[in-house]
Amino acid sequence: MRLGVIGFGNIARSLMALLAEGPAPLAHLAVLCKPEQRDALQNRLDTDLADAAQSHAIVTDTAGLLAERCDLIVECAGHSAVRAHGPALLEAGLDVVVVSVGALADQTLEDTLRAAARKGGGRLIVPPGAVGGVDMLAALGTAGAVDVRYRGTKRPAAWRGTPAEKAVDLDTLDGPSVFFSGTAREAAAHYPKNANVAATLALAGAGFEKTQVELVADPETPGNVHQFEAVSPLARISVRIENQVSGGNARTSAATIHSVLREVRNRQAAVVL
Ligand SMILES: NC(=O)c1ccc[n+]([C@@H]2O[C@H](COP(=O)([O-])OP(=O)(O)OC[C@H]3O[C@@H](n4cnc5c(N)ncnc54)[C@H](O)[C@@H]3O)[C@@H](O)[C@H]2O)c1
Repeated sequence: MRLGVIGFGNIARSLMALLAEGPAPLAHLAVLCKPEQRDALQNRLDTDLADAAQSHAIVTDTAGLLAERCDLIVECAGHSAVRAHGPALLEAGLDVVVVSVGALADQTLEDTLRAAARKGGGRLIVPPGAVGGVDMLAALGTAGAVDVRYRGTKRPAAWRGTPAEKAVDLDTLDGPSVFFSGTAREAAAHYPKNANVAATLALAGAGFEKTQVELVADPETPGNVHQFEAVSPLARISVRIENQVSGGNARTSAATIHSVLREVRNRQAAVVL
């Protein structure tokens, strides 16, 4: 398999490290990174990531990635990368796993990506990421209206550098504080780096306008906790995930990295789950 990865941050580096552990190397690994990251990436690919693939290439733009003839692309970079590279890759017929799902809260970008996929035959794949139960929610969504309420709880440090700093004193919190209530579209707009789960649930179930979101800072939370309730005529589901935070980024749940790994392995597997 020839795999393309966009990004060289926490998720991308962790994914590549897991791929290097086996069981078998990829035929080829192409990484699209920022120009200033090229040397550090080259060094990693030559040393501890050398077992990830039989060959590798580093590229810094969409044309370079397209030239690598990948079978699957995994985006682990951010909203700007989805915007910059997604449409052309889909239009070229490539399947793209998008981790920065919150980018699709921009209706214009979602429309552009859908049109590019239809035109070129590529598929935009949304992995469950940090949340579970998305399969059931998407199944309920095919039966019509579904009511979805999501609550995302992280430690105060994970909300630094976001508008939460103005809504609540993150340094002195001694219990859970709900600092945002609104739709999934609003959550993604105001908390783009933290609203991927809300966006994933919105795409799977009731849409961005009808998915209700609460964001919470809690010094006592056991990890990044994602909870949602969904009610439809077919079923009522309640999901609570207690994720461990990834070592490299307090905002990212470690399970997200393995969710992306699963998408890659599913491409190589005889039985797909
Ligand atoms: N779906 C989910 O459940 C979920 C969970 C956690 C994180 N995420 C998202 O995954 C993405 C990556 O997370 P992370 O923890 O690895 O972040 P990170 O900040 O550690 O790494 C992102 C990397 O991508 C690079 N980058 C940004 N824009 C780029 C571009 N246009 N081209 C090439 N490289 C670019 C950055 O320089 C950085 O090295 C973020 O958007 C995050 O919000 C999704």
